[in-house]
Amino acid sequence: MPFPPLRFEKDVLKILDQRQLPLHEVWIECRDSRRVHWAIQHMAIRGAPAIGIAGGYGLWLGIRKFRGSRRAFFNKLRQEAAYLKGARPTGVNLRNVIDRIMACIHLLKQNDVEILKKRVLEAAQSLHKEDDLLCRRMGRHGARLFKTGDRVLTHCNAGGLATSGYGTALGVLYAAKSMGKKITVYAAETRPLLQGARLTAWELLQSDIPCTLVCDNAVASLMRAGKIDRVIVGADRIARNGDTANKIGTYSHAVLAKVHNIPFYVAAPRTTFDFTIRSGKGIPIEARDAKEVSEGFGPRITPHGVRIENPAFDVTPHSYISAFITEAGILRPPFQTSFKKLESSLQR
Ligand code: MRU
Repeated sequence: MPFPPLRFEKDVLKILDQRQLPLHEVWIECRDSRRVHWAIQHMAIRGAPAIGIAGGYGLWLGIRKFRGSRRAFFNKLRQEAAYLKGARPTGVNLRNVIDRIMACIHLLKQNDVEILKKRVLEAAQSLHKEDDLLCRRMGRHGARLFKTGDRVLTHCNAGGLATSGYGTALGVLYAAKSMGKKITVYAAETRPLLQGARLTAWELLQSDIPCTLVCDNAVASLMRAGKIDRVIVGADRIARNGDTANKIGTYSHAVLAKVHNIPFYVAAPRTTFDFTIRSGKGIPIEARDAKEVSEGFGPRITPHGVRIENPAFDVTPHSYISAFITEAGILRPPFQTSFKKLESSLQR
């Protein structure tokens, strides 16, 4: 079942406000790039691929009313691109989508400004469609790794809500279900913003995939009790050597999975790979507001004055990852070799 978190209608980008799920379904209307930047930064829209798609439309909303010379147009386009790319730093999809649109417009630079504006929108729409295609392909490849009876742990939300509608990690489980495989899921709640408790549980319930919600700190004992067969997560940025940034807490699950001999899979499309950095050391980790920890969903729960750190992501070293599930197939270690398959598909 697809869960599209955004839609583009009559020159307006409509974003499902994920801060309010699962209790309220509220759509935010974005008519300019400032609103899109705000929605990304405040996590009304979240999940690396969905942020990228929103950024593409944001670029168009930033230049759609532009009047002036071609030279001034390109200055404005560059300015808007830099502004939007700064909305959230860790997920690389935002940068990748905007850079791909910029590259495509540069190839057409001899055209009239009105035509260039139209092309920006067309590029954003085509990258939106591409995400759906990549997720579905990824789902078909990844489903092969799962069998009836598997009890699968996932972290955060890497479902439809985090993409154009189908999902990466959850997309694989949706594909497995559509092949008739009966899988059950443990969703880790994902402190502090509870994407697992609020969003993954919501998607899985509606998809008729049996789901049990657990606190993040219950995972070790579940694994020791033999209740988890596989782990699957999404990703926000994957370095050349396979080191992977994903929601804070992912690394602990990966270490625990290795200790308990449980396969640990990362499902991600090409738009989440960053071949410009050699290792996870090059991935910027977003630090978010302390209030998400102290009073994320209601009254304050911590003493005033306590020092709080709130990193939004962590990096799982590649040695903890059993395989990457991508649209180009299942990529196993050594990743330096298997990633070549994905790199060559990028050049096509
Ligand atoms: O802070 P968020 O909610 O944007 O973090 C999202 C995640 O970490 C997801 O697991 C990741 O983006 C993959 S989504 C297909």
